[in-house]
Amino acid sequence: MIGEFLRSLECGGSIPFERFMEAALYHPDFGYYTKRVRGIGRAGDFSTWPELHSSLARAIAAWLRASPSRHVIEAGAGTGELAAGVLKHLGFFQRLRTTLHIVEISPVLRAAQEKLLKGKRVRWHRDMNAALAAADGCANIYSNELPDAFPCRVFVRADGQWKELGLKIDGNSAREVLCDCELPDSSSLQGDPPDGSRVEVHESYRRWLGSWAGSWKRGRMLTIDYGSVMPGLYHRRPAGTLRAYAHHQRLIGADVYASFGHRDITADVNFTDLENWGNGLGWKKINRSSLTGFIRSQCPRAALDSQIAEAGEAFQVLDMGSGCSGAL
Ligand SMILES: C[S@@+](CC[C@H](N)C(=O)[O-])C[C@H]1O[C@@H](n2cnc3c(N)ncnc32)[C@H](O)[C@@H]1O
Repeated sequence: MIGEFLRSLECGGSIPFERFMEAALYHPDFGYYTKRVRGIGRAGDFSTWPELHSSLARAIAAWLRASPSRHVIEAGAGTGELAAGVLKHLGFFQRLRTTLHIVEISPVLRAAQEKLLKGKRVRWHRDMNAALAAADGCANIYSNELPDAFPCRVFVRADGQWKELGLKIDGNSAREVLCDCELPDSSSLQGDPPDGSRVEVHESYRRWLGSWAGSWKRGRMLTIDYGSVMPGLYHRRPAGTLRAYAHHQRLIGADVYASFGHRDITADVNFTDLENWGNGLGWKKINRSSLTGFIRSQCPRAALDSQIAEAGEAFQVLDMGSGCSGAL
């Protein structure tokens, strides 16, 4: 049945990888995030920073206290652990003045959030436009490990040109094919890397930003994720960063395409693209640092052991602003 469904996605003889990933993660009946996610952390397939350490929640709360706003939006809140921590560390008076809006695509994770955050000043919305309408367009926004969960396009260098990765479904397995394509606006595609090099572009995240940018009048947005800026992102990673996770195991190559809908699929985020795309929407960069740098700047007395501090260097935090700054 899945094989038949996947074959129905083929156009011109193959499925663009981005469409495959979108269906694998978000198809209403068999998507990983829509149906199968078993939680995040020890009981799930992968762990995120907020499930392991409270330092990020403290740092986001400090960042929110420094530019207070009555409305705060978290996009893609997972189990709700980060939201609970941010509210806890916001402080009594600011917590009273703040409504937290959560935008969550996964019904399974939304149910977990509702359970964890019961009785708190939290509202859920189906998308960013609805959340921003409830905030009169003025809100501070944050997300952790959201862009990496968006379907990405994969490009492979062949005969000195970029080709797009597609998949041809044979029975129950997927075979890679390379297709001619129009290239998106991405710093990942600059330069002349050797044949066989691979890069990923989160173009669907760019479309998502564009779908609500017009509703955001004023505020700041913090985007936290694993990844880097160009050209460092693919330094020593010529095969790209695409991978899947199941039971905390990292899977690469053909294993990414197997067990459709039962694995998280992800790729590192290109923060040069995020900044350029934000600028294109009229937003301004306020700061960018590693996660360790961000936590230390917001909470100078935070106790980060050397392992956590080193892990935080693999994450970036981008702070961008829309409209004029000041209290919201
Ligand atoms: C990798 S998980 C990170 C969860 C959480 N932020 C954390 O740090 O534990 C990605 C989250 O983004 C959500 N998500 C993915 N695409 C989304 C979208 N378009 N709108 C809202 N939420 C989305 C997923 O359902 C999930 O909650």
